[in-house]
Amino acid sequence: MKSSRVLGTGSYLPSRVMTNADLELIVDTTATWILERTGIEKRHLVSDGETCCDLAEAAARRALEAAGIQASDLDLILVATTTPDQFFPSTACLLQQRLGVRGCAAFDLQAVCAGFVYALDVADKFIRTGAAKHALVVGSETFSRILDWTDRTTCVLFGDGAGAVVLGASDEPGILSTHLHADGSYKDLLQVPGGIGNGRQQDAFVEMKGNEVFRIAVNTLGRIVEETLEANGLSQSDIDWLVPHQANIRIIQATARKLDLPMERVVVTVAEHGNTSSASIPLAFDQAVRDGRIQRGQMVLMEAFGGGFTWGSALIRY
Ligand code: COA
Repeated sequence: MKSSRVLGTGSYLPSRVMTNADLELIVDTTATWILERTGIEKRHLVSDGETCCDLAEAAARRALEAAGIQASDLDLILVATTTPDQFFPSTACLLQQRLGVRGCAAFDLQAVCAGFVYALDVADKFIRTGAAKHALVVGSETFSRILDWTDRTTCVLFGDGAGAVVLGASDEPGILSTHLHADGSYKDLLQVPGGIGNGRQQDAFVEMKGNEVFRIAVNTLGRIVEETLEANGLSQSDIDWLVPHQANIRIIQATARKLDLPMERVVVTVAEHGNTSSASIPLAFDQAVRDGRIQRGQMVLMEAFGGGFTWGSALIRY
């Protein structure tokens, strides 16, 4: 059976930047509180008229260029997003049209902050089974549009952006394993309650019991790291890079400790991006590939935890 390999990466951040000092003017918070509790210094936000598909398109074009393939070579377009521009068509279909291609499968996947590893898992399976040779996997979010900007416990945490990878069928192992989990019994701890079911589409905002989410995230991510290493018969020292979901520097540090990895081997973007949900891992991955930290042949562990709860990991020989 074929493997899937990462052929190219890309990412995009909207140009508008909001610093912690800017937030002090909006809600009852301090720049120091945000930095000390989360590690976030600033975040990028979309401007009026800028869409999730705009971000996805910019990231996708960069990934396609890095992969050296054309959009017409794609057999699958998968967009992980919690903030699609419309109920339908999916952002993946909107993106397909922007890329000027027709016919290939295109759909969205919603697993909140674990969305990108979920999408990577699905695309990997398309390639392994021979259903696709080339797949575009995008994480794109405009989370700023589902934030209550009067709620200091959530609005300081998130940002907007997009990241993408192009996967290609290969005889060399690339994605070594993926591990996905969910537990819907935690739905009340982190949610956007508004939606079609209760007719509240207009005031759909993130609600979170941050403290409880924090505790469960740390424990769960510790377990998924163990599960991934065990499934591959590897030890902590085999991991070259950890590319974690970027929600809070303290959660990232706890996972790095579990892996016995020095923070120099962890790709951290939370200070500049905040939590960009499904975009955070491909954004961080692309940054570390482009600045030369992550090299071909190295072992990369991605892990994420998010609303649902959903969580998962991907182990990749880059
Ligand atoms: N500015 C200033 N004070 C704030 C604040 C803000 N933006 N947000 C909350 N506070 C206050 C709280 O009201 C509370 O005050 P009190 O003690 O008087 O009641 C105090 O700070 C401590 O709040 P707490 O929620 O216990 O802080 P914390 O250390 O848990 O940090 C989070 C809060 C949200 C940063 C943290 O819980 C977290 O990162 N949670 C997980 C987030 C996450 O991973 N979410 C997404 C998963 S993808």
